[in-house]
Amino acid sequence: MPVQVVVGCQWGDEGKGKIVDTFARRADWVARWGGGSNAGHTVRVGGETFILRLIPSGILNPRPKCVIGHGVVADPVSMLDEIDRLAARGVAVDGRIFVSEAAHVLLPSHPWIEALGGQDVRVGTTKRGIGPAYQDKAARVGIRFHDLMDAKGLRRRLEEHAHRLALLFKGADQPPPIPLEQAVDEWDATFTRLRPRLSPLVADTVELLHGALARGERILCEGAQGTFLDLDLGTYPFVTSSTTTAAGAATGLGLPPRALREVYGVCKAYSTRVGAGPFPTELSAVESVALREKGGEYGSVTGRPRRVGWLDLPQLRQAVRVNGLSSLIVTKLDILSGMDPLPICTAYDSDDGLVWRTPPLPNERLERCRPRLEAMSGWSESLCDVRRFEDLPSAAKTYLARIEREADCPIRWVSVGSEREAILRAPSKRIR
Ligand code: IMP
Repeated sequence: MPVQVVVGCQWGDEGKGKIVDTFARRADWVARWGGGSNAGHTVRVGGETFILRLIPSGILNPRPKCVIGHGVVADPVSMLDEIDRLAARGVAVDGRIFVSEAAHVLLPSHPWIEALGGQDVRVGTTKRGIGPAYQDKAARVGIRFHDLMDAKGLRRRLEEHAHRLALLFKGADQPPPIPLEQAVDEWDATFTRLRPRLSPLVADTVELLHGALARGERILCEGAQGTFLDLDLGTYPFVTSSTTTAAGAATGLGLPPRALREVYGVCKAYSTRVGAGPFPTELSAVESVALREKGGEYGSVTGRPRRVGWLDLPQLRQAVRVNGLSSLIVTKLDILSGMDPLPICTAYDSDDGLVWRTPPLPNERLERCRPRLEAMSGWSESLCDVRRFEDLPSAAKTYLARIEREADCPIRWVSVGSEREAILRAPSKRIR
């Protein structure tokens, strides 16, 4: 059974949560491979809104089991809190959630380190301490979930962590938010209290997923953030600290790359970004207001207003090739009703006279690019109640056909609203 992967084509917030929720109906397993509670996947089910941060969106379907892979950095307290909140709303969670024993623990001190280094302001991060948790991982001093299970060893690891923290705060000539001996006691007590609850969740998830592969079960890998927040392929340094592109499903879950045969790229019908960094098609502050309000473009984790702009085809072409996308899923097409003419960015012009069909490196060069915007015809009809692709206005079909042609990737689904049923299956042939 081929493994399916869902990735974001832009800077996150493409609507992956809803798509994973849709595909999860037929999945046996839904697995997150990277990031942490910086993600905010919003899913609307029967008039209720769920915002998932760490737990895969597949949990909202009764069938699949959910895995948080070793590529994720997870705060055990907020993970259990999220599970409790889902259970309180009637979601079946018992025996359905597993976290890799090799996943790194995000400690309460990681947001302190982030603030100390100023990354939160410079990059405009979610302030969750994601970068410092991955720094500890890369420095080979991180604490992993299997360490939480080892009562004696954990105390020593927490003390070693506090020692490194002491050096950092001393270097910055600042006191830590709480005395470090007290912090170690508090963390140790918290993890001791939580150990019985964590113990049934902590598992060898590579073994679980390979067992599923061997039995021919369906695995759906849920990406967090988007291609241009990828640590290597994104708009560095304005990126997150993990692999958000499809290859991350292999490294972050221990799945063989050749098993990742279906890769779905989720692309919003326009662009948004939170945090700092280049954004070639960004609208001015005044122009942004209408699109932001109509699209409800406020961060689901931080509540920050998102920066908004037109669809960026150079970016999409890059997402198609670096993820090896087998198909595209276009979301929030309904938000563009009434935008006429409808600009679309077909290429960039850089100040040295070059024309770019995919984003140039490095970031500084991208920052100096101007978008080539082409005005397409818009449509005035509301799409909210459209339930068949054929019933879309012809200008909307032309817009989708243009995306498909320029990105050289078939569009398989189009989402026209936040409810589960507001999704249209595109024709199997290219759109005309
Ligand atoms: P961090 O992941 O908190 O370190 O933030 C790094 C960058 O990624 C910032 O620009 C964040 O706004 C952005 N970011 C992280 N997670 C998400 C997400 O789920 N959606 C959109 N942007 C995100």
